[in-house]
Amino acid sequence: MKEAYRAPVPYVPLPARLAVFLSGRGSNFEALAEACRTGELPARIVAVVSDRPEAPGLGTAERLGLRAVAVDRRRFPSREAHEAAMAEAVVAHEADLICLAGFMRILSPPFVDRFRLKILNIHPALLPSFPGKDAQAQAISYGVKVTGVTVHFVDSGMDTGPIVAQEAVSVAEGEDCAALSARLLRVEHRLYRSSLRKVLEGGWVLTERSVAFSD
Ligand code: GAR
Repeated sequence: MKEAYRAPVPYVPLPARLAVFLSGRGSNFEALAEACRTGELPARIVAVVSDRPEAPGLGTAERLGLRAVAVDRRRFPSREAHEAAMAEAVVAHEADLICLAGFMRILSPPFVDRFRLKILNIHPALLPSFPGKDAQAQAISYGVKVTGVTVHFVDSGMDTGPIVAQEAVSVAEGEDCAALSARLLRVEHRLYRSSLRKVLEGGWVLTERSVAFSD
């Protein structure tokens, strides 16, 4: 028999305490912050953590009155030391879940094991197609007619963890990367908050790679 993991109801104490990891602009972070503010998400963001101090998303966090933490990769001698500092930020702020939102680093097996099934990511393609960077450009240059958005739990591979939600987006004839990226981004903002909400509600079952929600 396949071994299954059933998530408690709710998955974590609500309102959930979220740490958001980002490396750049932070529009997905802003969408999550707005959903927390309106009550659409039973959560609050307790820390916004970036590996790049110059990431615009950190400035947005400060403007929103959220705790912004820069953990500059260049100031650490090794990946282990850098990840230890990131983990320290998560633990110090008592975050229940980590939401990657344009965080452009692969997390190592020890980090992922420590926060097993507590890290989510959003990716602008229908995984397993087009993992890694520039997924939208990969899709355009491959010539696919349909791409989309994936929310998934994070393992130590590159965009390989169990899939929580996906939504397909058609590629328009002759569409360029900027136009496709903008359309995907609107779907990202909606899909991230709706699927995070379902994760937080709990009761879902993970069997091998497959996440099943009861509704
Ligand atoms: C988003 O499109 C996100 O899906 C992508 O980076 C962008 C960040 O935008 N993430 C990845 O490609 C992860 N492999 P944002 O900073 O405005 O949220």
